[in-house]
Amino acid sequence: MTAARISPSRLHETIAELSKIGRQSNGGITRLTFSNADIEARKYVSDLIRKAGMSVNIDKFGNTIGRSLNAPSDAPTIACGSHIDTVPNGGALDGAYGVLGAIEAIRSIHENYTPTKALQIIVFTEEEGGRFGAFIGSRGYAGLLNTSNVYAMRDKEHVTFQDAMHNAHLKPSMQFSRQQFNIRAYVELHIEQGPILEHEHKSIGIVQSIVGLGDLEIEIEGKAGHAGTTPMQLRRDALVGAARIILGVNRIALKTGIPAVATVGSVTAYPGAPNVIPGRVIINVDYRDTSLPRMRRLETKINSISKQVANESNLKIAIRRRSLTKPAKMSAKIVSMIETSSRSLGLSFKHMQSGAGHDCQNMARITRTGMIFVPSRNGLSHSPNEYTKPKQLENGANVLLETLLRLTNE
Ligand code: HGY
Ligand code: MN
Ligand code: MN
Repeated sequence: MTAARISPSRLHETIAELSKIGRQSNGGITRLTFSNADIEARKYVSDLIRKAGMSVNIDKFGNTIGRSLNAPSDAPTIACGSHIDTVPNGGALDGAYGVLGAIEAIRSIHENYTPTKALQIIVFTEEEGGRFGAFIGSRGYAGLLNTSNVYAMRDKEHVTFQDAMHNAHLKPSMQFSRQQFNIRAYVELHIEQGPILEHEHKSIGIVQSIVGLGDLEIEIEGKAGHAGTTPMQLRRDALVGAARIILGVNRIALKTGIPAVATVGSVTAYPGAPNVIPGRVIINVDYRDTSLPRMRRLETKINSISKQVANESNLKIAIRRRSLTKPAKMSAKIVSMIETSSRSLGLSFKHMQSGAGHDCQNMARITRTGMIFVPSRNGLSHSPNEYTKPKQLENGANVLLETLLRLTNE
């Protein structure tokens, strides 16, 4: 259909440059939302978006939105994007590849064509949920969040979202919203983050559906005290309660069975000293399933085991759902366009489900969506060892470019 291709050197150079921002001494990358590293990364990416022939705006959730220059706001729009925040000590590709691949694809399109529809890239805020909760940017963009509730959200240090965004010197255009745009489709490029494509020697994964995920924050309150002088029977140890809840969560997911999963990946004990009984603990439970009713049942069970432990151990408990993101199905039409694009580039492909969450599943609430995966070495992600071969990265970005062109010509 077209000879336009992305520039491999630009793609690899921008991935290498962005990966320097937030780099830790042990090789991992940490870019939490509105941190100094995130601010620096936002500047770098905004400059690239401008070089790709787009205007840059920031919406009220801190999402960076690039849009073909001079495109009327009511022009039919094809959107793509991903995120540049990372998990603590994460890799160079989760999110970043989707953003940089999209910028490169749009840049190549703008250099070769005058597309008949506007192109838009959205760099979503707080996809990973490391600071305030998962998918704040994409849920906000899709109209699923109330702005004042988001602004009042607090991180573990009690800093509000609003203050954190203000301290990051971002200048959101409060009037800027998706409703101004006539979005016809959203496509996201991402690493697979699992082992299937590598194992089956396929170049491209074409996502058909994305798992739903919930994030509960459980705060357990007991009584801090001296670790030497407080008899065991008189203690109200919040961390012992948390440990029992963690085991309960694990049992619930095991009993529910595949595809349900539940993980406690974050435990913060206060005051956090070896010789003080923990008086307060915060844990986060990440739970996932492909069916929303099963997700709701999982959540009910997690709530009740937590309350039971609290009762039995004379602890106070507060459970807050930070997010619940529904499972999503991709558009059959876009799935077929990604297939055609892969075929025309001579690339093998496989249809698959995504067990990882993506901004795409929130965009699926407002428009037709599709996702393109490339292989992850050893299936690793959320790890400094995340890696995809350069040629595989180029393939994915070219499939995105082709798919965007097909969507603009639809
Ligand atoms: O956790 C996830 O699935 C995604 O990487 N945020
Ligand atoms: Mn991730
Ligand atoms: Mn991601």
